[in-house]
Amino acid sequence: MSHAEDHEGSRRDFLYYATAGAGAVTAGAAIWPMINQMNPSADVQALSSIQVDVGGVAEGTQISVMFLGKPVFIRLRTPTEIDEARAVSLDELPDQSARNANDEAADALDENRSFGENGEWLIMQGVCTHLGCVPLNDAGDFVGSGGVGGWFCPCHGSHYDTSGRIRRGPAPENLPVPMVQFIDETTIQLG
Ligand code: FES
Repeated sequence: MSHAEDHEGSRRDFLYYATAGAGAVTAGAAIWPMINQMNPSADVQALSSIQVDVGGVAEGTQISVMFLGKPVFIRLRTPTEIDEARAVSLDELPDQSARNANDEAADALDENRSFGENGEWLIMQGVCTHLGCVPLNDAGDFVGSGGVGGWFCPCHGSHYDTSGRIRRGPAPENLPVPMVQFIDETTIQLG
């Protein structure tokens, strides 16, 4: 190989590496803003878990708290509400998934959606799974409720039972249960 050819070869190599390097930098620059956009902002991260004092919630009542921009219902159910929810078999349910972030593989039996020694706590997102309205706590005036309560979405008439499971109407899924942890008897952590 002559000296001239040798020189040309190394110049070609240099151009190749320089071009490949520029390509890598360009790809990296394009990917970074996308990844950066996917990261929640600092204020959202700060609220990714909250603690709620539930000491004042009386049996048969609920409170609603905002968590990650959405209402979460925290209800202390009556024995009748629990019995009603537990009397329902899976094949009566349009959505057979528990929709429970604490156990994503669980089925929709009430035992897999409720908390507390006797399943007295029901904690779920108060956002209708049809088009996102906030369901109202209901007197239970619908087939399958046994008249003991549940939730009714006024927007298009979806009914959820005393376990927050869709029973009638256009909503496709049960109301989702967020990550929940009991810190002590009267404090729960969401997220
Ligand atoms: S948004 Fe609830 S039924 Fe349509």
